[in-house]
Amino acid sequence: MVSIPFLLILPGLLQLASAGTVPTRTNSFQTVEAAAKAPPDLLSDFQQNNVSAKWAEGYPKEWGSESFKLEYPLPLGSSTSFFAAVSKDEKILALTNGTHAKVFKMDNMTLVSEFPLKINWAYRILLRSAPEGQHDLFATSYEYNNPDGSAPTRKIRLSPDGIPTGQETDYNGRLSSFDIQSISNDGRRLLTLQSTRVFVYDVDDPSKNLTLNQHSDSVMSAIFSPDGKYIATAAWDGYGKLWNATSGELVYSFGPSGGQNWLTRFSPDGKYVLVAVGSGTKVKPHVKIWSLTNLTAEPIEFAGLFPDWVRSAEWTSDGEYLAIGSYGKMIVYSMNQRQIVQTWQMEDNRTWEIYELVWLEGSKRLAYKITGGLEIYDFEKNLKYRWGPGDLDHYNYGAGIGSLIIVKSKGWIGGADTDMKLRFWPYPA
Ligand SMILES: *[C@@H]1O[C@H](CO)[C@@H](O)[C@H](O)[C@H]1NC(C)=O
Ligand SMILES: *[C@@H]1O[C@H](CO)[C@@H](O)[C@H](O)[C@H]1NC(C)=O
Ligand SMILES: *[C@@H]1O[C@H](CO)[C@@H](O)[C@H](O)[C@H]1NC(C)=O
Ligand SMILES: *[C@@H]1O[C@H](CO)[C@@H](O)[C@H](O)[C@H]1NC(C)=O
Ligand SMILES: *[C@@H]1O[C@H](CO)[C@@H](O)[C@H](O)[C@H]1NC(C)=O
Ligand SMILES: *[C@@H]1O[C@H](CO)[C@@H](O)[C@H](O)[C@H]1NC(C)=O
Ligand SMILES: *[C@@H]1O[C@H](CO)[C@@H](O)[C@H](O)[C@H]1NC(C)=O
Repeated sequence: MVSIPFLLILPGLLQLASAGTVPTRTNSFQTVEAAAKAPPDLLSDFQQNNVSAKWAEGYPKEWGSESFKLEYPLPLGSSTSFFAAVSKDEKILALTNGTHAKVFKMDNMTLVSEFPLKINWAYRILLRSAPEGQHDLFATSYEYNNPDGSAPTRKIRLSPDGIPTGQETDYNGRLSSFDIQSISNDGRRLLTLQSTRVFVYDVDDPSKNLTLNQHSDSVMSAIFSPDGKYIATAAWDGYGKLWNATSGELVYSFGPSGGQNWLTRFSPDGKYVLVAVGSGTKVKPHVKIWSLTNLTAEPIEFAGLFPDWVRSAEWTSDGEYLAIGSYGKMIVYSMNQRQIVQTWQMEDNRTWEIYELVWLEGSKRLAYKITGGLEIYDFEKNLKYRWGPGDLDHYNYGAGIGSLIIVKSKGWIGGADTDMKLRFWPYPA
């Protein structure tokens, strides 16, 4: 398998596709039918006291049963850029088709603005709170997708109602495809990637910046520690690195792993750092967790478990459980028991990547996307939920398309789906 992330590959392929024949809903390269694959057949499901999870009553739910949907009028297959984000105050929702954004006011879901991002193939958008109830929308793409070579990350300031104020800021480097912590917890600093380099920006004053420049191959993941004092990076040079986030000094190097590193995460207490390695051929995919209180202690290691890339991993907020997702496989590890307590595995374990792995309600529920749908496992009830394509639905294959969104004030769950529609359902009690 060629070890480059799909997001590096897809835009080029799609440009070729759109320059050639007109893509259609049945374009076989980009579009798949759900058929019997969704929900996937499992070798091993989540379980409680050795009893496998059951579907909650009324689940799995299929597309078409949602409470409402929003969409960009795009023929399926003409773009895989379709992302959504909701502001922290749940006042606005932004949707992008890769070149433009639409903003909706969430009190009644009215469209309040639509504007060009002035970047191409935006593969991710983020919203940050700005002073006086305003919002900052960040959009990002790969440098080579922007015809004039302009900065790949742009911040667009929006009014409290979601209308662009005309204030825009550009940043060098792109946002990582795999990280949710590109912005520090205090909202003030931003991490972007440019090949082997990582830029650390003061969001409001980009002339205040640091360059972390000690990797020798592309950096895939860069995150702030929960307290903002450290930055961890993982790169294809096989190193995980720990940096002082204030001075930019290198504190420690983990590795080399011998393979390409894809992901790094801090535990919520900031005591551990995780690095995921490997592509399945040269170095078997594995995950190591180092203790930051004793950098020379033997790391916790997960080896021989994953069929391919590990590009999602999240701790519960109390740091007790760690969920790790790969291709067709997830494990949940207990930090206290020092053992794997759940193994979820598809029959076809190389085909579909787990993504958007996130814990909900402490360690009660785990949400993730798989086979074009969104699923939740409830650890207390031993029940599972799914909102996804039905047998007759067509959608784009590919991780990284779509956004899991929970709107607490409304009791909604849903997000951007792989058929370029944003759907919401009631969040199950
Ligand atoms: C679950 O099964 C394993 C092996 O079959 C057994 O050792 C264990 O005691 C069982 N646990 C419970 C809670 O029944
Ligand atoms: C996104 O939508 C805008 C307007 O709705 C349209 O002009 C633009 O071509 C679309 N972009 C893509 C990549 O389809
Ligand atoms: C939505 O709310 C705005 C005010 O926030 C109002 O102007 C608009 O008419 C409302 N739209 C609908 C469809 O109710
Ligand atoms: C960092 O800021 C300086 C000005 O202080 C600017 O010249 C430089 O381009 C910035 N670096 C990046 C990576 O944006
Ligand atoms: C980071 O570097 C600064 C300046 O050298 C120093 O004051 C600070 O203590 C360092 N932070 C950590 C967490 O080591
Ligand atoms: C750190 O780990 C090493 C190796 O396990 C051990 O020898 C050493 O005592 C530990 N140091 C502390 C301060 O715990
Ligand atoms: C992948 O799935 C097959 C069965 O479908 C199983 O035999 C194999 O052990 C799995 N590989 C890994 C690394 O989990």
